[in-house]
Amino acid sequence: MRRKLIVANWKMHGNLASNKQLLAAYIEKLSQLKNIDVVVCVPYPYLAQAQSMLQNTGIAWGAQNLSKDAVGAFTGEVSASMLKDFGATHVIIGHSERATAYCESDENIATKFIQAQQHGLTPILCVGETLIEREAGVMQMVVGKQLDTIINRYGAAVFANAVVAYEPIWAIGTGLAASSEQAQSMHKFIRGKVAAQDITTSTSLKILYGGSVKPKNAVQLFAMQDIDGGLIGKCSLNAQEFELICRAAA
Ligand code: 13P
Repeated sequence: MRRKLIVANWKMHGNLASNKQLLAAYIEKLSQLKNIDVVVCVPYPYLAQAQSMLQNTGIAWGAQNLSKDAVGAFTGEVSASMLKDFGATHVIIGHSERATAYCESDENIATKFIQAQQHGLTPILCVGETLIEREAGVMQMVVGKQLDTIINRYGAAVFANAVVAYEPIWAIGTGLAASSEQAQSMHKFIRGKVAAQDITTSTSLKILYGGSVKPKNAVQLFAMQDIDGGLIGKCSLNAQEFELICRAAA
């Protein structure tokens, strides 16, 4: 039985004062939920705040990106070891908002994935198709290719210390989530891709669904066999809604 994992992706929201309130509400509402794991991925400048408020609460924290390089003259980049300095345990890799706005290639994403693991961070690898790709029926091909970039380079065993998040691009921030059947079908495909190379790793791999998860659809989504939790954007900025989503997983 895989333990459910709920990850908050705050994206570029918050400030010191609002974060303080939100994290305090998370601690009050979520610390007693014992049978799920919760991770909050905050903007870089707030890692120290997350660390000071969340340590010893059972809620973990992480980042939304990292550099593909370990150290060096890379202005504006943030390395894996810097994230570790602030107690981060997880890092989101290849979010579609970055892949499109900042032209991240699958190759860069694969390098970041390994960079995170080499420094003891758990990468949360985002995969997903556009609406045009879904309507053309090529969504498995698209997601398969995203996974293959990593599997072909490093082998499927690297997924033993990773999380995959299926985030159909058409569902992100649109209010239109994938149906539980659509999501389950893709999650099963993803697990199958890893299983084809490494059964043991595929059995323990956590595959999260992301894209307009709300209290209203969370129960149905999380009830599916291959959906091991969620990557939550908008609703993670509201402590009540986030609590309901976490409770749906618990
Ligand atoms: P929303 O929950 O706002 O649709 O965002 C999903 C997402 O992109 C999480 O990474």
